[in-house]
Amino acid sequence: MDMLGGLSAQKFLSQYWQKTPYLVRQAFTDLFEISGDELAGLATEPEVESRLVTANDWTLRHGPFFEEDFANLPEKDWTLLVQAVDHWVPEIAALFDAFSFIPSWRMDDVMVSYATPGGGVGPHFDHYDVFLIQVSGEREWCIGQTCTEADDRRDDTDLSILAHFQEQERWVLQPGDMLYVPPGIAHCGTALSKDCITYSIGFRAPSQAETLVEFAQFVANNCSDFDRYHDADLEAREDNHLITGADVDRIHRMLQTLVQDRDAMARWFGRYMTQPKYGDAPLEEPSLNKTDIARQLQRQPLIRNDAVRLAYQPGTLFVDGEAIDTDLPADGLRWLCEQKRISATDLGSQDNATRLSILTSLVGHDAFYFDDE
Ligand code: SIN
Ligand code: CO
Repeated sequence: MDMLGGLSAQKFLSQYWQKTPYLVRQAFTDLFEISGDELAGLATEPEVESRLVTANDWTLRHGPFFEEDFANLPEKDWTLLVQAVDHWVPEIAALFDAFSFIPSWRMDDVMVSYATPGGGVGPHFDHYDVFLIQVSGEREWCIGQTCTEADDRRDDTDLSILAHFQEQERWVLQPGDMLYVPPGIAHCGTALSKDCITYSIGFRAPSQAETLVEFAQFVANNCSDFDRYHDADLEAREDNHLITGADVDRIHRMLQTLVQDRDAMARWFGRYMTQPKYGDAPLEEPSLNKTDIARQLQRQPLIRNDAVRLAYQPGTLFVDGEAIDTDLPADGLRWLCEQKRISATDLGSQDNATRLSILTSLVGHDAFYFDDE
């Protein structure tokens, strides 16, 4: 398998990442193939986000669906899209391993689409980086212009479809082929065969607006009512209606001071970028204590919950938006973030006690679980 078509990860990042589309033929040779039935099954679950798009009239329906919804579909022109399949199917979560050269906190989810001939979601762009992996059947991808705010969307559909698409390139992807599409680049995929399955590995990039609002909220939570605009240096003025340069300088300095604490920002960022994709992390006290976990580990391994987001900074492990301070050295934290299963023998190092206490917190956060619970 030559996932990046002969490029090193560094070459791919410097030449293509966030810059230009990149096609790799036979990037994957032994892809796990989810069945259409399994995908349809997921789309009937209320906690799974799914959509059904019909290409001939650009209609959009949101799940959960009933089995009869699928039984009544025509032979062609529709696509079923299911988000975050990696949360439910470990073999699909494992696909992220191939992208370990990209920060894990940039990963969003794996969306899986199942389409019949003619099916697709129309010409559009995403704000995310996406790797489109063809799993079964054939899909034609057209790449269009670099989009801006000026690119209008059609107003006759609930789908976000571009009113104008200027085609630049066109490829037919076969199973195992992969197309990387940077944010903001128009693209349009159309299924050419039945059983056309595509995995979209999405990497999110928070918008400036949402980052600012979230960070401002965090800073505000730590401000006291005594922290206020102050002008003890005020000088008597003749025109009391004018907002002077000195007034603006004071508010400018005040707001600048509020964003200057880099350490606080680093901690906030770790928490922000590991917030769960759906819902909130459970806040209850750990149900199992250290002794319970050590004992249970003798009998069975702990399994990683693929829906949980983990990241670390030296001295802090972030799990689903929470920060856990720890003495565990960086290699131990990295190890914890990487494990899919942890058994008693894995804990046999010099950091045993610290690892066990962090694992206890992680079990409390539902990041790891025993299979029979
Ligand atoms: C699809 O898989 O049909 C759509 C994926 C995309 O365009 O991002
Ligand atoms: Co797209």
